[in-house]
Amino acid sequence: MDFFNEGRVSFYAEDKQLKSAEVFFNPKREFDRDLNVLLVSSMMHDNSAGLELFSGSGVRGLRLCVETGKFAEFTFNDIKSKDVIERNLEINRKKVSRISKTVTSKDAASFESGNKYDYIDIDPFGSPVFYLDSALKLLKKGGVLAVSATDTAALMGSAQKACLRKYGANSLRTSYSNEIGIRILIKKVVETASSHLIGVLPIIFNFEGNFIRIYFKSFASKRTDKIGYAYQCSKCPARETKEEEKCSYCGSKMHRIGPMWLGDLCSKVYINKMISSLNENKMHFPSGSLSRLSSYLAGLSAELNVFSYYTTDELSSFLKQPELRISRFKNKTVLSSKGFRIKGNFHDVMESVL
Ligand SMILES: C[S@@+](CC[C@H](N)C(=O)[O-])C[C@H]1O[C@@H](n2cnc3c(N)ncnc32)[C@H](O)[C@@H]1O
Ligand SMILES: [Zn+2]
Repeated sequence: MDFFNEGRVSFYAEDKQLKSAEVFFNPKREFDRDLNVLLVSSMMHDNSAGLELFSGSGVRGLRLCVETGKFAEFTFNDIKSKDVIERNLEINRKKVSRISKTVTSKDAASFESGNKYDYIDIDPFGSPVFYLDSALKLLKKGGVLAVSATDTAALMGSAQKACLRKYGANSLRTSYSNEIGIRILIKKVVETASSHLIGVLPIIFNFEGNFIRIYFKSFASKRTDKIGYAYQCSKCPARETKEEEKCSYCGSKMHRIGPMWLGDLCSKVYINKMISSLNENKMHFPSGSLSRLSSYLAGLSAELNVFSYYTTDELSSFLKQPELRISRFKNKTVLSSKGFRIKGNFHDVMESVL
């Protein structure tokens, strides 16, 4: 076991991301945890109750407790690492002395509690779908739910049967598969929440290679109206969100993708709140974290709210031309360094490049 410092906490963990690791810890997710701290700081009220269903070393929950100051109670749960979490709480005891802390080692799929929570975190290995019911039962109205997924092969179209089985959706490998994965995951969470008579809306996402994390805020009413399908041409880059059997650009067959979330991926209102909190920096982020967070949020706040982005790669190979420079396009996306968004369909894209 090694000793680490991240944010304003210190802890023991193993730098191993394997299921066999005694205590899971992935130092490469520091940005993700920074974003988590910022979101909780800017969105949650004081004296909140938090529940982390998959704590690993406890680093995430500890950072949320210490750096946001928003929690009066916090429950750390991990089927495997209760002793290490307790040890790590002890190391940071002065910083968390005002918080009522509970450490449990239950199976998250059947986690029950007499309490309800303002913040619930699902950060498992693989798919979160098996844990949504137990989490949603315990989420307070107005609460925040964080959901991670690492089964990106299923969500992003490489393992289509697994996606259908777990998420009830058809995915497809495309140049914008990470966006499809995010939209399918949102759909699954919105749909499951709706079956518990809860409405949830996505606030912000983070995508890092094989990792997707989405934050939701719950509302009183259920909202599933923005779930639907997209149609991708089998021959050219054209895609649509209205049903089309044949591509309006080249006439080829269209593949149907979904059902998935077709609403906004982020809430500009909450992103602006996060930007304001970042400017105040009560969390005391160091300069490296500050600049990465602020450029990410600036990117998100400037994104067009339209379905999917095009990449310079796919356009160049379709046009059989040397690669177009991304600097030609105004509306970039945080989801791909070669990706841009456009209001309009593929005809409009072609008009802008020819
Ligand atoms: C990806 S790690 C969590 C990482 C942590 N949230 C962080 O940010 O460092 C997943 C954790 O889930 C635990 N785990 C696996 N299956 C579980 C289950 N059914 N219920 C509760 N915990 C489980 C593992 O022991 C592991 O520590
Ligand atoms: Zn086509």
